[in-house]
Amino acid sequence: MSNLSGIFHSAAEVPDFAKIPRIEGRILIGGKIRSSGFKSRPVISPCSLVGPDGKLSNPEIGTTPDLDEKQFMEAVDAAALAWNKGRGEWPTARMEVRIQAIQSLKQQILAQRDIICRLLMWEIAKTWTDAQAEFDRTIQYMDDTLEAVKALDRDCSRIQFSGGIMAQIRRAPLGVALCMGPFNYPFNETFATLIPALIMGNTAVVKSPRFGVLLWDALLEAFKNTLPPGVVNIVNGSGRTIISPSIQAGKIDVLAFIGSSPVANKIKLAHPEPHHFRGVLGLDAKNPALILPDADLDIAASECVRGSLSFNGQRCTALKIIFVQKSVARPFIQKMVEAVEKLKVGMPWQPGVSITPIPDPMKLGQLKSYVDEAIQMGAKLSNPKSGGRVEGSLYWPSLVEGVPLNSKLATEEQFGPVVPIVEYDSTDEFEDYVVHSPYGMQMSLFGRDPEKLGGLIDHMANQVCRINLNAQCQRGPDVFPFTGRKRSAEGTLSVTDALRSFSIRSMVAAKQDPSGKQLVQDILHGDHSHFLSTHITL
Ligand code: G3H
Repeated sequence: MSNLSGIFHSAAEVPDFAKIPRIEGRILIGGKIRSSGFKSRPVISPCSLVGPDGKLSNPEIGTTPDLDEKQFMEAVDAAALAWNKGRGEWPTARMEVRIQAIQSLKQQILAQRDIICRLLMWEIAKTWTDAQAEFDRTIQYMDDTLEAVKALDRDCSRIQFSGGIMAQIRRAPLGVALCMGPFNYPFNETFATLIPALIMGNTAVVKSPRFGVLLWDALLEAFKNTLPPGVVNIVNGSGRTIISPSIQAGKIDVLAFIGSSPVANKIKLAHPEPHHFRGVLGLDAKNPALILPDADLDIAASECVRGSLSFNGQRCTALKIIFVQKSVARPFIQKMVEAVEKLKVGMPWQPGVSITPIPDPMKLGQLKSYVDEAIQMGAKLSNPKSGGRVEGSLYWPSLVEGVPLNSKLATEEQFGPVVPIVEYDSTDEFEDYVVHSPYGMQMSLFGRDPEKLGGLIDHMANQVCRINLNAQCQRGPDVFPFTGRKRSAEGTLSVTDALRSFSIRSMVAAKQDPSGKQLVQDILHGDHSHFLSTHITL
């Protein structure tokens, strides 16, 4: 037991703010919340507890719906009915009506802050601090979206004149959106697509990720109370079996998916008319860091540790491979080892904890196999004291140096607390790696020489979509564009870009002659249209 003390708690030792939740997951379809009529599967927490016998076990914290194809199709049909081929109450509503509804939704979601954060902690082992940050960032995202949409609405309310034509150009919704967020940000990243989709007038089906499912139950009443029936439908089930039929039937117009590229490809290819099946996708990434010989090694090491190991490295924006110039490799790796050894490993409610349990039970074996393979190919563990230790679902971060570029650790997205390090002679090796990589999200460059950095920027800007100078990779602030090249993304997310991603420009045009002017004026002055309108949302 002694090696476990301080890391694992008994149920009685869990502090009050973190008390174990229990949720029996329900679904929302067509404005009705249902608690029966479907199969469910248990949800087991990755956070281990010590029992009276000293053994570790993982508590069951609830159940989640496990819908079949037919039941999932019901949710899609409910969204299609609310869309009603574009004639539904929601897609034709004035922007100010939708804004008011989303504002009320936000107020009701705020009341669920405590349970949502607690569920993020128990279900995906997000630290209490990070769980609260995820919640608060999402509320901020909602606020920013509402402000951005008001500005967009103001811009679109102008009548434009050109070449004898008068026109009003607005952004109109696309149809039914299928929103699927990832397990690492199940609340934030789903809302980052769902809210823009809704505010632009689309209807939606939300399918929860593999982990991070229970929080949706806490939100059902809020959605039911604030939006017309069928505008949002919230369900769960095995994506592998339930999604394809509705895609094949052409019932989904937009796929908003944050996850893996093979899954995204499979879903997209299932659509009968791919040209009008829009994808808003955040996918795989293998963001590299480059440490130049003149880099400030303290800054580089501290940013690389945060960049590669925040939330156990389970971020699409995590640094997933580090290239360090040979002349500074030893001191850099030494600083990394020292910083990693200081990271506190434990349960997500413990103060100051950084490394927490891994939600996917299959991941521990995968990480071990990647590290073993790299070591067999000549790599070495830089932190053998603790690197790779496993207790329950905790994995102590491994720093692996001398990683061969043809190993899985260099080519696959590990999505976990393993940091591959490659020592290079010339930056050409890094550039070649990036050019031949199938991923293209972000990178971090650490150095001081403006000429060298300028040259790298010019080349690398055509390979990735964000270059971070002397800083880790990250998505935020959310007003900045978040996207990627190659296998890493389709479409762009940011507060404003997302509004465009979930809409299409649609315009009303008339000849700029007396009868055209008169007709437009009559429609405007009589307030006969929600679309052709100069009404401004304040
Ligand atoms: O997993 C991908 C997230 O969008 C990362 O967001 O960089 O703010 O942690 P973050």
